[in-house]
Amino acid sequence: MRLGVLVSGTGTILEALLAEGLPVVVVVADRACGGLDIASGHQVATELVDRRRFGGFGDAFERDTFTLAIVEALERHDVDLVIMAGFGTVLSQPVHDVYDGRIMNTHPALLPAYPGWHAVEDALAAGATVTGCTVHLATLDMDAGPILAQEEVGVRPDDTVATLHERIKEVERRLYPATIRKVMAAGVGTKEDNR
Ligand code: GRF
Repeated sequence: MRLGVLVSGTGTILEALLAEGLPVVVVVADRACGGLDIASGHQVATELVDRRRFGGFGDAFERDTFTLAIVEALERHDVDLVIMAGFGTVLSQPVHDVYDGRIMNTHPALLPAYPGWHAVEDALAAGATVTGCTVHLATLDMDAGPILAQEEVGVRPDDTVATLHERIKEVERRLYPATIRKVMAAGVGTKEDNR
């Protein structure tokens, strides 16, 4: 089983996956980020599919063309299972054509509560006393695929976005690798089975 990890940020979740010894064969990023440095430090192959080459972050962004480039990067490394770990671009249909049912994500809230990019802010702003994280299969609809695992994290009265997000990430660094192992053990097969 060959794992490809998609990152955009600091990559601490990626680091936890590598520390767990998961078979990560490539780390793909949509921008220059700490996750690429962590991959290089672990002698894992990297691919930078820079969004700026596909219209950047505004209305001109060519999502399908970008998504195809991500798929090509994953296929260059014979990836079987795609692991999103703080990836900042919503991918479109071409990735689901190839990797349907083989894309996992971790989200810093108890879905379906607080989907989207600002899950931790939104939980705090709503005055939630409990939030958490969700590991799920990614589908075309953002943060909406089948839930595989969830764990609660209590909100403290003095929490900021940073302190709460860090406590959630501590859980994600344990729950995500454990859930990936379960998916691998359940026999997701190789990508060739999707053809
Ligand atoms: C995690 O909280 C993940 O759920 C969210 O982005 C964060 C990634 O953190 N989508 P890091 O860059 O791995 O530290």
